[in-house]
Amino acid sequence: MSTACAIDFGTSNSAIALPQLGSGDSGPDEVHLVALEAGQRTMPTAVFYAVEGLRGHELPQRHYGRAAVAAYVEGIEGRLMRSMKSILGSTLAEQATDVGGGHSVRYLDVVSGYLRHLKSLAEAEAGVALTQVVLGRPVFFVDDDPERDAAAQAALTRAARAVGFSEIRFQFEPIAAALDYEAGIDREQLVLVADIGGGTSDFSLLRVGPARRGRLDRSDDILANHGVHIAGTDFDRHIELAAILPACGYRGVGPNGREVPSKVYFDLATWHLINTVYSPARQAELAGMKGFYADLVQHAGLMQVVRQRQGHALIAKAESAKIALAEGGAAQIDLSAIAAGLSQRLDEAPTLAALEADMAQIVAAADATLAQAGLARERVDALYFTGGSTGLRPLARRIAGRFPNARPVFGDRFASVAKGLGRQARMAFG
Ligand SMILES: Nc1ncnc2c1ncn2[C@@H]1O[C@H](COP(=O)(O)OP(=O)(O)OP(=O)(O)O)[C@@H](O)[C@H]1O
Ligand SMILES: [Mg+2]
Repeated sequence: MSTACAIDFGTSNSAIALPQLGSGDSGPDEVHLVALEAGQRTMPTAVFYAVEGLRGHELPQRHYGRAAVAAYVEGIEGRLMRSMKSILGSTLAEQATDVGGGHSVRYLDVVSGYLRHLKSLAEAEAGVALTQVVLGRPVFFVDDDPERDAAAQAALTRAARAVGFSEIRFQFEPIAAALDYEAGIDREQLVLVADIGGGTSDFSLLRVGPARRGRLDRSDDILANHGVHIAGTDFDRHIELAAILPACGYRGVGPNGREVPSKVYFDLATWHLINTVYSPARQAELAGMKGFYADLVQHAGLMQVVRQRQGHALIAKAESAKIALAEGGAAQIDLSAIAAGLSQRLDEAPTLAALEADMAQIVAAADATLAQAGLARERVDALYFTGGSTGLRPLARRIAGRFPNARPVFGDRFASVAKGLGRQARMAFG
């Protein structure tokens, strides 16, 4: 019985695969993705620490994935943790953060708790203790900083060891996606993988084909790897800044015509900084800034958001509107969290304008991948799109436009990386 598994620990969603042959959903060669909640093969990378009704020395109760998000939405007292992958390379990873009720947790312990949850679900299915793991990693956890990037991988390694994995290997997420693509092709080709997720946009250029499948060492086939730390959560932030936060004063002006200080809006639009805005000292400071606002309705809206702790809810609104727009061309955002009856329409053109800088950097990263390989763009035979943010078709079209001879292929947006990591685990651990 194999004791190996593979984990795609994503910024927004995660999955765990069991690589053994013969256990697949759709054929003997398939990798099996463990059902995580209600039959779903991927789960939000979210942990909720519930502190409501705790007595004496009781520790906060943890909820994971959709249950974590649901506990948060229901208004249970406690703290929702998301985007934990983004803090791996920072000093925050070793720091503790307050979850309410006098309790605090170390960020890295949030990560290991989440990994332990995935592992135990997989072990329940496998019927054995899993001790070997292939973990996915972005091409860069941290852009332009090799030291912090190495620190991020080391932190993830510590979290994996803490939950009982003794053999730990890493594979780049886009290469894993390429292995998944390769499983379904019958001709050798040059593929550019574009994995555009929640935290990073990663590109790998690989030679793939039936004759190469199954080789453990693919270093000769990997022609280039590149990525940027810009993806879906940045889109959410920029949509929130463009379409939601102006209603509570972002880019507003004061009586003297000066722009109001913008730091609070950037903090509100960034997952792991939201809680800093709720501290009593910060609330008092913000209340005292009323005089900076020409439009007092904006200041009242800001104070409403801060006092009612609506920061996470507003990011979630930006994200839902983004997905609705990607799927339907426009969306309506309910802003009653800022002021009763308020709402804002989100249209494609201004949204794409708000995302222009992000998209341009992602397209530039695709170009840089080809430059790294020293190959002409015309040489690419196929473009394999994976990751949730490839649902934003104008972005995918823009990338496709750079590679005139490449056939665009849309993979399993949320599962390709986990399946490819599972194949890697099968090859690495037998
Ligand atoms: N239909 C859609 N259109 C656009 N974006 C979408 C759509 N569906 C989901 N997303 C976005 O996809 C992102 C999540 O994608 P995914 O699960 O691939 O990321 P991840 O693997 O967790 O992140 P990463 O690989 O960067 O660590 C989120 O930002 C989400 O808002
Ligand atoms: Mg991913």
